[in-house]
Amino acid sequence: MESTTIIPIASGKGGVGKTLLCANLCIALAKLGHSTVAVDLDLGGSNLYTCLGVPNKYPGIGDFLKADGAKSLQDLAVPTSVEGLSFIPGDGSSAFTANITHDQRKTLMKGIKSLKQRFVILDLGAGTSFNSLNFFGMAPYGIIITTFETPAIMNAVMFLRNFAFRAASGMVRPYPAVLADVVERIGRPAAVGEAPVTVRGLFDVIARHDQTLAARVEKALARYRPRIVFNMGDSPQELSILDRLDATVRQGLCLEPDFFGFIFYDDIVRQSAKRREVLLLKYPGSAASRGIIGLARKVIGSWDGPLASSGELLKEQAAQQFEALAARKGQESGAP
Ligand SMILES: Nc1ncnc2c1ncn2[C@@H]1O[C@H](COP(=O)(O)OP(=O)(O)OP(=O)(O)O)[C@@H](O)[C@H]1O
Ligand SMILES: [Mg+2]
Repeated sequence: MESTTIIPIASGKGGVGKTLLCANLCIALAKLGHSTVAVDLDLGGSNLYTCLGVPNKYPGIGDFLKADGAKSLQDLAVPTSVEGLSFIPGDGSSAFTANITHDQRKTLMKGIKSLKQRFVILDLGAGTSFNSLNFFGMAPYGIIITTFETPAIMNAVMFLRNFAFRAASGMVRPYPAVLADVVERIGRPAAVGEAPVTVRGLFDVIARHDQTLAARVEKALARYRPRIVFNMGDSPQELSILDRLDATVRQGLCLEPDFFGFIFYDDIVRQSAKRREVLLLKYPGSAASRGIIGLARKVIGSWDGPLASSGELLKEQAAQQFEALAARKGQESGAP
């Protein structure tokens, strides 16, 4: 039997394209022959059905939680018009699902882990809620999507910082004295002139209790490889920020990032959303669709394992996409 790969899609800032990517990546994966389920985990703000072209009338996560584990999540998967692709809706008509309890979150994560499709893609809520941080931690490789705007990039880093803190706290939970110090250090506001606590600073707090535990937490964190996808790009030159971003994540957060995808800004995305058209089905040749199909091929070919020189590879791929787009525009305008 084929193994299942869970891919959470998160972002620090809202509105950067998680849902658009989730829906169309799922369609591309299914069309390339891999059974896929799209799960709407943006609890309190679920709208993945719109990008998939599915009506908002099916029970989903809200109903699963109300049934308190008595329903199977797999049974809630709705088939879509794309062969091999199903969809698990979010909160639907259930109110207050953004505020689920720790136990509900555990039930939900167990349900997600029991899904059997080849790919399980999670559309998360923006920002650093415990829901999004915990769902992001369900897999060693998860996508962080951002635009090139400074606030979006800053918030992506902020998301990963909070993620590292949350993961480290989770790992020391069995040691109440360590946990108490870790939680105190994370929660303590920096004094005037003092730098805010870093991930390395947190390892030091743990090491004061137990050096082996600190080394274990550091090693466990290093196994997470956030995969950064840039959306709404104008030109491949924007990727000149990669080295700085790489250093920030690697040194500041003790996490190793991979640079995984580049999707161009494309007017057709918003136009199709207004007309309730599904981007990849209606406009498979558009710049945004091509970027997402390229990303799906990369997921299929090289998701499970560290990527070598991911930044350099992404720069090359973005440059190729840009040239292909320019050539197409040239042909359309009749230029020689
Ligand atoms: N490549 C793109 N080119 C142009 N517009 C885009 C692109 N990607 C996304 N958009 C537009 O940006 C807006 C936000 O996209 P989307 O809803 O997917 O973001 P999100 O991260 O899921 O937002 P939220 O945080 O609210 O869940 C939408 O109007 C979408 O049509
Ligand atoms: Mg969304």
